[in-house]
Amino acid sequence: METGLLKLLREWFRKNAVALPWRPADLDAPRDPYAVWISETMLQQTQVSMVRDYFTRWMKRFPDIETLAKASEEEVFRYWQGLGYYSRARNILKTAKIVRDDTREATLPNSRKELEVLPGIGAYTAGAILSLAYHQREAILDGNLVRIFSRLHTLDFLPTESRNALKTYWDYAREIADSAKAYMHNEALMELGRTVCKVKNPYCDSCPLRKACKAALENRTAEFPPSKRHTQKDWHGTVLVIESVDHKILAVHGGQRFFKNQFTLPHFESPRNATAGLPAQAERYIDADKVKSVENIGKFRHSITIHKMECDVLYIRLNGKAPAPTSSDIKWIRRGQAQDFFASSFCLKALDFLEKI
Ligand code: ADE
Repeated sequence: METGLLKLLREWFRKNAVALPWRPADLDAPRDPYAVWISETMLQQTQVSMVRDYFTRWMKRFPDIETLAKASEEEVFRYWQGLGYYSRARNILKTAKIVRDDTREATLPNSRKELEVLPGIGAYTAGAILSLAYHQREAILDGNLVRIFSRLHTLDFLPTESRNALKTYWDYAREIADSAKAYMHNEALMELGRTVCKVKNPYCDSCPLRKACKAALENRTAEFPPSKRHTQKDWHGTVLVIESVDHKILAVHGGQRFFKNQFTLPHFESPRNATAGLPAQAERYIDADKVKSVENIGKFRHSITIHKMECDVLYIRLNGKAPAPTSSDIKWIRRGQAQDFFASSFCLKALDFLEKI
């Protein structure tokens, strides 16, 4: 995100930040990591309006980790009663005991690695503690940020859909956290998501990011983030590993379903359990008369953005040497160099089967 836009976001937050019991009046003051941990854990799956009183009562009774670690589970549950998801309370007590026993001053650790091994502390809570309390350049990703990024960049997939999808969202989150003001950017986005960039009928006129928001500019905020059902895109395909007698493998550029701007193994959408034999698509590249054998050598799964794929790997052996390429979109790669040439894991997964036969 541009620095100018982030400045608008900070200005918006300074003006509009709601007073909350875990939020000091001075928005730039580092916070008590314990208070951040408790409030952010309560805020997962629970509305701010409800958490307010629970947090205040909790902090009166358990003002620090040492006090909490001494409490019984029964009493901790009593202070949690009504918030639901009681495993959160159980994990909080477990973590309090671990931190009291393992650290000299009973304080939460200040690295993602150490935090994320503690019961109940995941990527989100760790990011919140590190940025809001320790003022580190650490990212967070919650439902609010997902909605904002999806609308800003018209991302028509959810982070839960694949590893790549999740990475795309975290990359945006890390980008805004790559700043000395990460703590403010993170919290401002959560607040913006809650109060302005709402699920239904967002107040785009009041949004500091509206000039950069693709969905708002196109009047399509209702489409983002997409609902779960219509975004799961399953794709079944076939990848061709075509090898000549002189051990060269065919690479193609363009005209492929994925990887439009790089050389890849030829691939195309195909029905599950496609019949054996040379697929018609292969004849775009090779002469059927020059084919010695066609063999299905394996099947792999792969995700690209929203596409969850399952691919069959067809190994096609030619009975002659690699023909001279008829266009610049075709290359024959020496088998020994294929691992380096085809850098994408999509191709590497297909080539792996070749090593096994
Ligand atoms: N939702 C969850 N945590 C929040 C925070 N720190 N500020 C605003 N909204 C939130």
